[in-house]
Amino acid sequence: MTQQEVILKVENLYKHFPIKKGIIFSKEVGRVHAVDGISFNIYDGETLGLVGESGCGKSTAGRTILQLHRPTSGSVWFQGEDLSKLRGEKLRIQRREMQMIFQDPYASLNPRMTVSQIISEPMEIHNLYAGQAQLRKARVAELLELVGLNPAFASRYPHEFSGGQRQRIGVARALALEPKLIVCDEPISALDVSIQAQVVNLLEDLQEELGLTYLFIAHDLSMVRHISDRVAVMYLGIIVELADRNALYKQPMHPYTKALLSAVPFPDPFVEETRKRIILEGDVPSPVNPPSGCRFRTRCSYAQPICTAEQPEFREVVSGHFVACHFAEQLQNDTPV
Ligand SMILES: Nc1ncnc2c1ncn2[C@@H]1O[C@H](COP(=O)(O)OP(=O)(O)O)[C@@H](O)[C@H]1O
Ligand code: SF4
Ligand SMILES: [Mg+2]
Repeated sequence: MTQQEVILKVENLYKHFPIKKGIIFSKEVGRVHAVDGISFNIYDGETLGLVGESGCGKSTAGRTILQLHRPTSGSVWFQGEDLSKLRGEKLRIQRREMQMIFQDPYASLNPRMTVSQIISEPMEIHNLYAGQAQLRKARVAELLELVGLNPAFASRYPHEFSGGQRQRIGVARALALEPKLIVCDEPISALDVSIQAQVVNLLEDLQEELGLTYLFIAHDLSMVRHISDRVAVMYLGIIVELADRNALYKQPMHPYTKALLSAVPFPDPFVEETRKRIILEGDVPSPVNPPSGCRFRTRCSYAQPICTAEQPEFREVVSGHFVACHFAEQLQNDTPV
């Protein structure tokens, strides 16, 4: 990461989904606390990894940041504007600069559209090259080359491609409007292991060539290790730890991060032999009724009475290393809580 300019600032962002009962007189009987108060910055040109178990709110966070879901409360600052307050044309202009790549390259491409139609759809929506069919065609060819596909494929349909190639088409579509920020929502999880590295390498090359910034979502820490500059760990709607990649992998402070990391194989054979595996007991509680205080307390082997009574603040324990745990300092030094 060369620059430290903040490109996106997320402040106290919440997204709750109402649960309704009854068809005619439907009334709210509860809420899914999918994203429950998250705050962080993304720096220009960096890759921020966002990791957590399935259902912890990663996709909802990504979608709410891009305003594909409107936030329940909180702000998302991008280029000097609070996106949560923008509507209509003003929001559309900002949205051009932020795109998303989806997990499932099979489901996310319309099977009845050609590759050319898929990639030029965002240009159509934003009135780019309107009435200039030749220019639009040339741009599609350029984008296909950029993602390592033969421009002659433009007239083919998605089913004619492999999973890795389809994900490249998804990347080309995301790049069509020259965005600054891309939310990559588990872009490699559905691909064969042998193809995953190719797609990661492509995303890295594109980042360097085009100066892109990524929020890279994944469900385990091993997937984001290589690509991320910093990593945020999510649990049940909140971020429990965020740090520079090296600090997070070498000196995790939050018990949840420690447990997740203990399951990731380590490249050093000595460390691998001596490391202890922490087994997480119990299931993730329901996001409809998250536990009081620290929401990890029901599975945390360090939990104390204060953990039930008070929600730990997400605070900067050492420079650039944020943790939401009452005992972060003790856990950092491995002293008993
Ligand atoms: N559109 C929606 N309506 C209601 N609940 C939703 C919706 N989208 C997600 N959820 C719920 O929000 C929680 C977080 O989901 P999600 O953001 O998809 O998690 P992840 O991407 O980490 O797997 C889950 O409990 C999920 O069922
Ligand atoms: S605040 Fe308490 S329960 Fe939560 S992670 Fe820290 S020690 Fe565990
Ligand atoms: Mg998801």
